[in-house]
Amino acid sequence: MLNKYVHVTLRYKTGHLNFVFRKISKYLDKDISSKVIREKFLNYFIEEKGHKFVKSSPVIPFCDPTVPFVNAGMNQFKGIFLGLQTPQYPKVVNSQKCIRIGGKHNDLNNVGRDGYHHTFFEMLGNWSFGNYFKKEACQMAWELLTKVYKLPASRLYVTYFSGNTELNLPPDEETKHIWSTIGVEEERILPFGETDNFWEMGLVGPCGPCTEIHYDHMGTVNRAQLVNRGLHDLTEIWNIVFIEHNRKQDGSVQLLPKKHIDTGLGFERLTCALQGKVSSYDTDNFTYLMKAIQKNCSGISEYSGHFGEQDWNNVDMSYRTLADHVRMITVSLGDGAIPEQNHKLRRILRKCFYLSETVFKKDKGLTKELSNYVVENLGQVYPEIERNVDQIHQIIDYEENVYHNLRKSSEKELQKLIKENAKLTTIDPIDIAPNVLTAYKELHESKCKIIDDKLAYRLYDTHGMDEELILQVSNVLDIEFNPLSFAKGLDDAKLESKKKSAEMKFSINIEPTIPRTDDSSKYFYSKGRRGYSFPPVECKVLNIIQNDLSTSEAGENCVCSLILDKTNMYCAAGGQDSDRGTIIFEHSQFDVKELLNIDGRILHRGVVRSGTVRSGSLGTIKPDEAARIANMCNHTGTHLLNAAVKKIKRASCQKSSKVTDSYLNLDVAIFGAKLDISDVVSIEDTISSLIKKQIEVKVSIVDSQQLYKYDEITLIPGEVYPDNNIRIIEVTDGSAFISREPCCGTHVLNTSDLEDFCVIGMKSLGRSTQSVTAVTGDRAKLARQNAVRLSEEISLLKKSLGDNMDKPELIEVAVGRIKKKLNFDARDNTIIPLVFKDAALADLQVVNGQLKQIGKQNLKNFIEMEMEDALQSNIGTSKSNKKYIVHYLRSSVVLDSVPLQKATKLCPNMPVLIVSYSDNIVKARCCVPKEFQNEYFDAQTWLTETVATVFDSEVRPSKNQAGDAICNMKPKKVHIQEWDTLLKEAMKLAKKYVHDNL
Ligand code: SER
Repeated sequence: MLNKYVHVTLRYKTGHLNFVFRKISKYLDKDISSKVIREKFLNYFIEEKGHKFVKSSPVIPFCDPTVPFVNAGMNQFKGIFLGLQTPQYPKVVNSQKCIRIGGKHNDLNNVGRDGYHHTFFEMLGNWSFGNYFKKEACQMAWELLTKVYKLPASRLYVTYFSGNTELNLPPDEETKHIWSTIGVEEERILPFGETDNFWEMGLVGPCGPCTEIHYDHMGTVNRAQLVNRGLHDLTEIWNIVFIEHNRKQDGSVQLLPKKHIDTGLGFERLTCALQGKVSSYDTDNFTYLMKAIQKNCSGISEYSGHFGEQDWNNVDMSYRTLADHVRMITVSLGDGAIPEQNHKLRRILRKCFYLSETVFKKDKGLTKELSNYVVENLGQVYPEIERNVDQIHQIIDYEENVYHNLRKSSEKELQKLIKENAKLTTIDPIDIAPNVLTAYKELHESKCKIIDDKLAYRLYDTHGMDEELILQVSNVLDIEFNPLSFAKGLDDAKLESKKKSAEMKFSINIEPTIPRTDDSSKYFYSKGRRGYSFPPVECKVLNIIQNDLSTSEAGENCVCSLILDKTNMYCAAGGQDSDRGTIIFEHSQFDVKELLNIDGRILHRGVVRSGTVRSGSLGTIKPDEAARIANMCNHTGTHLLNAAVKKIKRASCQKSSKVTDSYLNLDVAIFGAKLDISDVVSIEDTISSLIKKQIEVKVSIVDSQQLYKYDEITLIPGEVYPDNNIRIIEVTDGSAFISREPCCGTHVLNTSDLEDFCVIGMKSLGRSTQSVTAVTGDRAKLARQNAVRLSEEISLLKKSLGDNMDKPELIEVAVGRIKKKLNFDARDNTIIPLVFKDAALADLQVVNGQLKQIGKQNLKNFIEMEMEDALQSNIGTSKSNKKYIVHYLRSSVVLDSVPLQKATKLCPNMPVLIVSYSDNIVKARCCVPKEFQNEYFDAQTWLTETVATVFDSEVRPSKNQAGDAICNMKPKKVHIQEWDTLLKEAMKLAKKYVHDNL
């Protein structure tokens, strides 16, 4: 079992590892490279034993919510073991990328301290799906190790399952016998219990007794008693699992329909054995990285392979940790993992940045540079790593910037807090971030003595803190906290929220006897010369629900839900809205407004338009075809948009999407430069050309085995896809454009049906996410027509400027009118293309420029008038009943430059914070008279924590002034598209801060 060494042997403390006796076998080729070792394994099973090669699945378990990362070669075959999928081949072999940093198999804490625990490792494995079993599996493993690799049998031990009475499982005498028949000496065949010899993938799922092969690096005397004792020089290398059972939620095990073989040979450990090393870091799986670290960091001593006390300054441990983590990072990012959604991956990245900075004295770029070496080394075996190298680089860069910014922004606060409580220095530096400090302050102020599960859950939810972080903070504050109980509490809370939503859904009383609705015909549509046709479906009313209760009939105008035996209407899923439509009965008609799926029973919600609908009535369903087609166009449009964004931005990932009959919306995280207007132009060009090329939208149905075979497929991390019946929607234009996504939605059959595509909106949501709204077909045409009209209006305005110079208010009114038109809702008929809106805003800025000319003369008046007005109507009151002003100087937009002191001077008797925006530059100034300052509130903190954070700028005291009293924010350029959202956020924060702290 490659996972179980939780005790680090004490021998490291004396640095024994370097002095082990390494004479192995005269036949062993110690110069064998890891590449050849891997090839020999695969070739043995493919060429000599008739196995089929299956490529490694991504390390993100897209079809399995029970494990955080793929942690064994067998993960991708789980569906086969459980009898849910039919295997394509009875015998397969592979080398699987595995990650163990959490959950049942967690190796993270040992990484770097010893020579054989890794967050990322490769597992070589052979499988039999209902084909060969124990005897053949043991024979082949033995033959490969002793005959092909030529490992001496005198260094090998085997173990078998000694049985478990609780599980009602007898000792595995059969395996014992098999080993003995193979010729293994009796004293080398050792029994072990459930912990060592009963393999389980996770808390639930396929499992079974196993037999392991252990390798003794010393090999001088019989060390059978030391097997499974956590010795670094006597380790398990191969685990052969006899998958026979399924562990269920209640803890019991149940026999599976068929018996299977699942084996895992630790590649790094095998390499150690074959290359005559005890530590993986001395094999060629790592030496290239150790050299690369030294080469890239001048002045650092070379890796010397010391452990424990001999590694007195922990430099070797840092080498090992960095090398291990860089492999894990490169592989997981290459497979599409997103650190934002994976706390553990993010911590590992931060650990690398921290080590780079502190031990290896490289401020930035080392992790990225090292990832190139990993790509070079592993890219030949796993081509996806090579293919996604841009994505890997972009995310590392992005994360490194975020890390440094967080460190910078928390540094001052941290130093302040450390003065009060020196124990804060014990928090792992990689965890110091504003959210942690805020949580610390909150806990400190609340003076609570215990962090119970509920409070811990709140810290997790609001501050994104995991159990490790909460534990660190609780230690600093001497507050009691039980991380184990929290893990359970977290599960309970998740369950509770699931239950709540289920209860909400199930407050509707549905007879359990009512069968599930067959909605497969929602996909049965075709396209002829007259366009799309949706064959009507004959249905039967199984039940009527009115006011959440079951009833047998519903009369005219009655608002209710019908449960039908069949339907061809689409029920909201995968971001796509429900269909609308009509059901025609012999003497009545029902209008469907939306659909709801309750455990497979589909409720058609709506109103009886005429007659009476009865339980048992037979009818014909007619979906609103125009709405359905618009949904289909928008859904395909969303996929094209997603792929087009990926094409230009590489490291991007869909966060959510919404498809309606009037617009589509895609929230996408981009790790690097955000989308700008030129990107929008290029996205629109790409999609227009796909529309013009009339490309077929292909649909295929696959299972999870086939899903992993695609080289390029857009999977959403965190999304769990079913094992079977996964619909793949594909639009490809050679290699120039590939959109391939699993999706349950309904799509057009050809890209030409979209007719047109245009982006109508784009905004930022948080640090990395952008939300893009677009329209297709007639709505795209409508947007373009609206643009033509508006463009005429703007031309007229520009022309009339000269005539109205003396009447600036007239121009302002006209500008205001046009601006209003530029602010529409995506459902409106006044939508306009974003590209046009951008140009129009630029035009209006020119007009504003003209107004500024007039403004210059009236500068003083403008500001004074507005501030006087603010003093009348914009004064806020804090918690402690004190007055303050937080104000955005609207008039600034028509001014060339804004002397903010003019504004603040007008209200000297209260705290005031003013923001201005002129020529795309935001400025802010704030003054807090001495008598209003307190421990938590002064000019510097007020501006820093709020407006300056939002605009990502710095705060400095005003010239010759104390920072507590008067501060300015360094002017910052902000694009007009971002302005409204950021301003709103800044004002909200500034008001909340003064309200709470003044
Ligand atoms: N599933 C077993 C393991 O991970 C063998 O592949 O050890």
